[in-house]
Amino acid sequence: MSVIPPNGPRLLQITDTHLFADPATEQAGILPEARFQATLRAMAPWAVSADGLLHTGDLVHDGSDEAYQRLRQALISLDLPGLVMPGNHDDRAGLQAAFADGPVSAARTLRIGDWTLIGLDSLQTGEVPGHLDVAELAALDRALADCSTAYCLVALHHPPFPVGTAWLDAIGLDNPGALFQRLAGDYRVRAVVCGHVHMAFDGHANGCRTLATPATAAQFLAGAEGFAIDRGPPAFRWLDLRADGGIDTGVVRVSGA
Ligand SMILES: [Fe+2]
Repeated sequence: MSVIPPNGPRLLQITDTHLFADPATEQAGILPEARFQATLRAMAPWAVSADGLLHTGDLVHDGSDEAYQRLRQALISLDLPGLVMPGNHDDRAGLQAAFADGPVSAARTLRIGDWTLIGLDSLQTGEVPGHLDVAELAALDRALADCSTAYCLVALHHPPFPVGTAWLDAIGLDNPGALFQRLAGDYRVRAVVCGHVHMAFDGHANGCRTLATPATAAQFLAGAEGFAIDRGPPAFRWLDLRADGGIDTGVVRVSGA
C-alpha cells in the first residue's frame, strides 16, 4: 500500500505516544518525544490523502497539561479531523480539557465518508486494566442507535480480545462480554481498533475484526510471558474503509527514529 489516495476513506491510527511535560524525558530506554515526532513526519504524506485520524490512548505518560497541549498542536498539524480517547496512563480530566473541541477532539463519534468511528473510554483511574462502565456502555448504545452510516468502527484503548502475550492479555479490557454483546450481530460494526499492547495485531473475535497497533513509544515483545521490550521502531496504522464494508489495513514502521 502507498500514500496514493485510496478508493474510499482512509483513516490513520497512532497510539501510545506516552509524552512527558519535558520532551527530553526518557522512558524504557527510548525518547518518546523523538519517536513521536519521527512518526508524525512519516504520517504527513499519508495525511494528504487521508480523511481521519485516531489516537487510541496513552497520549501522555505523566498526565501533564504541557504534554497534552504539545500533542494536540502536533496532531492538528496533520490537518485531519480526529478522535482521541484515554488510556490507563492518561488523566481523564486533563485529556478532556485539552481536547474539548477543535478538529481533533475527545468527542464520541467522527463521521468518515459512509463510516462512523465510535470512541470509548475504558480508563479506570488508578488501574492498569480497562473497564467499560454502565454510562460508557449506554453511550455506545446511543451511538449505535444514532449511527446513520452503512458501517462503523469501534475504538478504545484496552483490547477486549487476547493478543497471545500472557502478561498483556491479563491487563486488557476486564468486561469484553458487555462490549461484544452489543457488537456481535450488528453487521455495521466492522472492526474493534485498540492500542495498549504496543504491538501489531490483526485477528477476529466474536465475528469482528480485531486490530491493535504498535506504540510510537517503546514496543512490547510479542509472545513474551512477562514484561519485555522489543527494540523495534515506532509505527502507525492506515485503514482503508471500503464501500463494501471491508477494511484494507497495514502498519507502517518508521525508520530513523
Ligand atoms: Fe501504552
